[in-house]
Amino acid sequence: MVSTMLRNNIESSLEKKIGLSAESLGPETIEKAMQLRMRACGLTEPAGYLRLLRTSPGEWAELIEAVVVPETWFFRNRKSFSYLGSYVKRKWLPKHKNGVLRVLSLACSTGEEPYSIAMALLDAGLSEKHFRIVALDISKKALEKARIGHYGPESFRGNDLWFRGRYFEATPQGYRLHPHAMETVQFVRGNILEGQFLSGDVPYDIVLCRNLLIYLTPSARKRVMEVIDRLLAKTGVFFVGHAERPLVIASGFQLIREAGVFAFDRAVESTLPKEPVKPRSRIRFERRHHTQENSPLRRSTDIASASPHKPPPVDSKPYPIRDRRQPATEDGGLLDQARRLADKGALEEATSLCDKVLDQDMAQVQAHYLRGLISLAMNNERDAEEWLNKTLYLDPEHHDALNHLALIVEHRGDREKSAQLQQRVKRIRQKEDIH
Ligand SMILES: C[S@@+](CC[C@H](N)C(=O)[O-])C[C@H]1O[C@@H](n2cnc3c(N)ncnc32)[C@H](O)[C@@H]1O
Repeated sequence: MVSTMLRNNIESSLEKKIGLSAESLGPETIEKAMQLRMRACGLTEPAGYLRLLRTSPGEWAELIEAVVVPETWFFRNRKSFSYLGSYVKRKWLPKHKNGVLRVLSLACSTGEEPYSIAMALLDAGLSEKHFRIVALDISKKALEKARIGHYGPESFRGNDLWFRGRYFEATPQGYRLHPHAMETVQFVRGNILEGQFLSGDVPYDIVLCRNLLIYLTPSARKRVMEVIDRLLAKTGVFFVGHAERPLVIASGFQLIREAGVFAFDRAVESTLPKEPVKPRSRIRFERRHHTQENSPLRRSTDIASASPHKPPPVDSKPYPIRDRRQPATEDGGLLDQARRLADKGALEEATSLCDKVLDQDMAQVQAHYLRGLISLAMNNERDAEEWLNKTLYLDPEHHDALNHLALIVEHRGDREKSAQLQQRVKRIRQKEDIH
C-alpha cells in the first residue's frame, strides 16, 4: 500500500510534467501504476521508489508509460473522418491544386487515428504526395506499435469496417497496414506541454487533439489550447473528442455545425484569452459532489428511499471536486466505473451502470449528466437534451450541462436559445468570481 503523502507527491509531479489530472483517471490508477513500477524495479518500499524517481528521468518515463491511457481504434467517431475527407475535397483542394495538405495528430497513441486520417484522405481522392501527417505522442511504447502498423481485433470496432479490406493485409496475428498508407505518417515523440513544442513548424491545415484534454488539469488544457492556437493555420480546422467540445468553446474557437462531427474553426481570428482564465468547466470524467440537497427533486424525493450515504459537505463554490483521499460513496464508485466504460467506448455498459445508480437514487445529478453525455456519444441529441434538462432541473447551476445544451440547440439552429444558455453560464461564472 502506497502512503497517501507519497501518492499525492507523485500525483502532483505527474500534473506538472504531463498535465495529467489524477481525478480524471480515478483514484486507483496511479497507485496501481506505482506498484507495477516498484515491482519491476525490485523495490518494496515506496520511499525508495520516490528516491529513484528523484534521480532517474528514465524511471519517470516508465511511470508515465504506465499511467497514460492509450485507448484508441480506427475511425473512432466515424463522422469526423467523413467530414474531414469531404472538407478537404470541397474546400481545401480547390484552393490548393498543387499544394500539400498538412495534418497534425496530437496524442496519436498507437497510430489508429493518424492512419485513419490517411485512409480518409486517400479515399477522398488525394494522392500520397498531396498530404503529410505528423503524429505525436508522449508514449514510446505506443509509437513503437504505431510504426509497425500491425493491429489486432481491438483496433477495429463496430460493423462498418470497409477500410480493412482495402488498406490492410490479413496476417495470422491480425492485419497489417499497406506501406503506401503508412508512409504518409511521420511519428514524433514529444510532450505537448513542453515549452516550444513543434516550434518552427509551418502551421497545420488540420489538427486533431482528441481524447487528451479530458485527462488533463484545467491549466494543462489551457496550455494545450494555446499550442493548438499556435499550430493551427488561420483557415485551419481542429477536431476534438465528443466530450471535449465545451472546453474548446470556452477557448473561442467556432463549432462546425455538422451532426456527429466534433470540429472547430477559428471565429474570424483567435479569441484565446490573453489573461489567465478560471477553468470554465470540468468535464465528465472528473468526480465531483454537488448541490443535490437543494435540488427540487431531492426535496420531493422520499428521503428513506434515497441513498443511505450522506453527500459530502458542500463547499461554498459550486462543483468542488471531491477530495480524492476521501473514500468514494457506493454510487460514486459505480459512476466512476460508468465514466471509465464510457471513455473506452463501452456505452451500453456505461448506460446500465448509470441506470443502476439512478434506480438507487433518482437525485444523483451526475448520473443524469453522464446519461446525457452517453446519449451525445451515441449521436442521440434528443435523448441527450432530455437527460441534460433533468440534470439542470436537479441542479440549475450545472454549467457543463448548460454548455452541452447550448451546443445541442445551436446544432438544431436555435441560436437565440443557445445564446441564452451561454448567458446563464456566464452569470454563474460571474457569481463564482464574486464568491
Ligand atoms: C486516449 S489516447 C487518445 C488517442 C487518440 N487521439 C484517440 O482519440 O483515439 C491519449 C493519448 O495521449 C497521450 N498523452 C498523454 N499526455 C500527453 C502529453 N502531455 N503529450 C503528448 N501525448 C500525451 C497518451 O500517451 C495517449 O496515447
